[in-house]
Parts: sequence; structure tokens; C-alpha cells
Amino acid sequence: MKLASAPRSLPADAALGTIAEGPSALLAGPQAPREDVESIELSLLLEAIRRRWGYDFTHYSHASIRRRLDQARRAAGLANFSDLLSRVLHDESFFDRLLRYMSVTVTEMFRDPQCYRTVRERLIPVFKTFPFIKIWCAGCATGEEVYSLAILLHEEGFLERARLYATDFNKDSLDIAEKGIYPQRAMDAYAANYHQSGGRGEFSDYYSSSYDFARMKGFLRDRIIFSYHNLVTDGIFGEMNLITCRNVLIYFDKTLQEQVLRLFTDSLRHGAYLCLGAKESLNFSAVKPLYETLDSRQRIYKKRGLVAHG
Ligand SMILES: C[S@@+](CC[C@H](N)C(=O)[O-])C[C@H]1O[C@@H](n2cnc3c(N)ncnc32)[C@H](O)[C@@H]1O
Repeated sequence: MKLASAPRSLPADAALGTIAEGPSALLAGPQAPREDVESIELSLLLEAIRRRWGYDFTHYSHASIRRRLDQARRAAGLANFSDLLSRVLHDESFFDRLLRYMSVTVTEMFRDPQCYRTVRERLIPVFKTFPFIKIWCAGCATGEEVYSLAILLHEEGFLERARLYATDFNKDSLDIAEKGIYPQRAMDAYAANYHQSGGRGEFSDYYSSSYDFARMKGFLRDRIIFSYHNLVTDGIFGEMNLITCRNVLIYFDKTLQEQVLRLFTDSLRHGAYLCLGAKESLNFSAVKPLYETLDSRQRIYKKRGLVAHG
């Protein structure tokens, strides 16, 4: 039998390609996927942000972080992510401005009214059996969610026995949240949400209007503590009776979602509740067995009690 002889020389262009790609390309083999330049720049940029400023976006969903960084790049008139990286490393005020692009702060009062109705009808009766409750609204953005909860608790006669913690890593948003001042033009839509959620009064009783702005009433603000907290790098808020973290996990990859769900599990009392956004759930999470589902549509879960051993 005649054996096929090995080719003695490669075609000129193939040989050139091999030399140009260098030894690592030879090791990886021709089938290894090759990253495009922008993906390499993006991961270097995220690494630079993490190491220089301590903000870790490496486990955010890459498609949306790339889109937002690209907006920031264009706004700054820079040619590519490498130029952005250089500015990020050397210019703190530039980084502060860049951070504003990194968080999506879209929110509204009584967003997903049915969710608030479920809280009112199913959680409040349980809370009424406690002398005092603590609620953590994580990723509160400009505060509309936490004011909605405060209104609901007030109508249930429970606000005085509650402390609400509202946290975010976006300082500009927290500033607005703390002031509780919103555009008047948004109030009609919020009033409609409020009534759909089972609101019992007049929504306009909860703010005072001045020109184009509405300011939430002081008795609501007084029960809320606003504070900076980064879900990626900061620790637990202990002994919570309810954590709402709505429309935040959706921006994280699976690894970060798991990490943050662990943080929430460690922050909740046994028998306490976790409320996620409409597109988020505990399904497929390692913490799922630690919860029972109170309402799957409204993404409300109850942390199981202690398991008795022995
Ligand atoms: C779309 S808003 C959701 C606001 C509100 N929870 C709601 O459902 O209407 C997402 C918020 O998550 C915050 N966020 C994103 N990553 C965060 C992190 N690592 N730590 C704390 N907050 C974060 C953003 O700053 C933004 O305010």
C-alpha cells in the first residue's frame, strides 16, 4: 500500500499567516475562536475600572455594558475603548461621569401594581403580627419604589413600626431619592399605578406640588434611610423582613446573580420575603431550595425556616 506523503512546504500565504499569528496561535490550533479587538478592549477596560476604582462590572451582562460604554465613548468623542481606558485610568472626574452611564435608572412609583397588591394582601397581614419590621430596597435608583412601599405601609397603619433601607451605588440617583422630588408630569401615571395596586386614598395626598415638581411628604421620607451600597462588593444588611430587589439582577450574569442572591439570603430572617422584578426569578438558582414560592407571577419568595436536625 502506498502511504500519502506529507506536504514538504505550505502555500506561501498559509505560512505567512502562521508566522504572523505567533506561537500562541500555533498552540491554540486553527479551530480556536478569536476574540474581536473590541471585546479584548472591553475586558481590559472593565479590568482597569475594577483595579483603579474598585467598581466591578466584569460580571454584568456584557451586551448591555458594552452598549452603555459605547454611548459614553461617543459622548466623550473618543475613537475606541482603549482611549476610554486611558482616560479612566488617569482622570477621576471623567470616571465619575462615566459611572452615570453604567447604571440604568429607569423606575416608577408602584411599578407592576399587582406586585404591590400582593405585598398589601399577603405580606402585610403577616407583618402586622410583628412589633417592628425592616425592609431593604436594594437598587432603589431614584427612590420611587421605596416611597411606594412607605405609602402602602402608611395606609396599612404600619409605617411607624417599619424602617426602610434604600440603597444604590449610583450617588446621583440616591441624591434625588433622598430629596424625594420628582417631575410633576409623572404623577398622573403614578396615580394610576397606585390605584391599580389597591391604593386606598388620593395619591396627591402624598406629595406637595410646586411649579413643575412634586415633593414627597416628610412623614414618608422620615422612615427611610438612604445609603450607598454596592451589591457586588459590599456586605449584608442583617435581619430583614423583606428585601425588594427589582429589575437589578437582570443586568448581571449568572455568577453575579448567584452571589447577590446569597447576599440576600444571608440578610433575610427565616420566614422573611424576597421580591424580585417581573423578569427575574429564583428558578435555576442554587438558593431556590432555601425558599418557598409565595407568588410565582409576582416573583415573591419566602425564606424557609430553620431545619431541625437530630
Ligand atoms: C432599572 S433600576 C431599578 C430601580 C427599581 N428597583 C425598580 O425596579 O424600579 C436598576 C438600579 O440598580 C442599580 N444597580 C446596578 N448595579 C448595582 C450594584 N452593583 N449595586 C447597587 N445598585 C446597583 C442601578 O444604579 C439602578 O439604580
